[in-house]
Amino acid sequence: MKILAIETSCDETGVSVVADGRRVVTNVLATSLASHIATGGVIPENAAREQLHYLVPVLKEATASQDYDAIAVTQGPGLIGSLLIGVEAAKALAYATGKKLIAVNHLYGHIYASWLNEQEPKLPAVVLVASGAHSDLVYLDKQHHLTYLGGTRDDAAGEAFDKTARLLGLPYRGGPEISRAAVHGTPGEVSLPRPMLHEDNFDFSFSGLKTAVRTVVSEQQPQTADVALAVEDAITDVLVSKTVRAAKENGIDSIILGGGVVANVKLRAKFQSLWDKRLFFPEIKYSTDNAAMIGAAAFYHQNYVYPLTLQADASLSLR
Ligand code: KG4
Ligand code: ZN
Repeated sequence: MKILAIETSCDETGVSVVADGRRVVTNVLATSLASHIATGGVIPENAAREQLHYLVPVLKEATASQDYDAIAVTQGPGLIGSLLIGVEAAKALAYATGKKLIAVNHLYGHIYASWLNEQEPKLPAVVLVASGAHSDLVYLDKQHHLTYLGGTRDDAAGEAFDKTARLLGLPYRGGPEISRAAVHGTPGEVSLPRPMLHEDNFDFSFSGLKTAVRTVVSEQQPQTADVALAVEDAITDVLVSKTVRAAKENGIDSIILGGGVVANVKLRAKFQSLWDKRLFFPEIKYSTDNAAMIGAAAFYHQNYVYPLTLQADASLSLR
């Protein structure tokens, strides 16, 4: 089964054709990152306008000489203006072609990005989804049913990277910028808290990091690279430790990672050194937003909807 997938939840415009949830036939991605660097972050109206600008050319390129059996689209969560562009396009395309339409939760997309690997993830698994707006731990059983284990109580992990980067005067997007700067940092020069690390739950809290970074910057005049290294270590330590604990306490052998923050190579390396059982994470290009992951999730959760009534929903979650 070939699924044409459309992803427009934030500032990437993606269209992909994915066969049987595993094989990427085409994957086209346009990003409006440059315009957000200019404004120091995403302004929702700009992001929606850029989606409108890119969608038809991206769709044409991805579907040139490609056939497909069904259409999938990100219904939410995300920026409502951006979501609407993809959802309305998918509805029109489904109506015009008579093909079935599948609504996809973007966060399920991040989970299923690992199904695009050669090696199929083994279930049951504990899954960490760490993106710009969400940080969730879920349990995925053999029937692909999700149970929510915990999540952030305030800022998401990606948001913590983005906000602390801004405090350090680094450009948008913060995660990759912190990571690049951290390479030149000296361990131990700056120390930051690891919130909720030892609490007996699977929740996260990252908003305190902003205050801690602000205090360190104003009181110690540290090197940017040293703070960046401390931020990267604090966030990744908490994510790795809580995810590994969730797997151990539930007696699960598989951990699956997804979401933009999983592009972080240090996070991947820490998981590899602290988890000696099965570990699955997507290629870097499928960790951050893309449409192929939406095509994968659509195959495993064939949530068919009537093309004329589907509504974008900015507030969807995994809870
Ligand atoms: O999943 P994603 O592409 O979009 C959302 O669904 O939000 O995630 C974007 C987030 C941003 O906060 C970005 O700073 C973060 O992922 N990110 C990273 C890295 N690459 C992207 N964070 C840490 N290290 C990276 N290399
Ligand atoms: Zn995302």
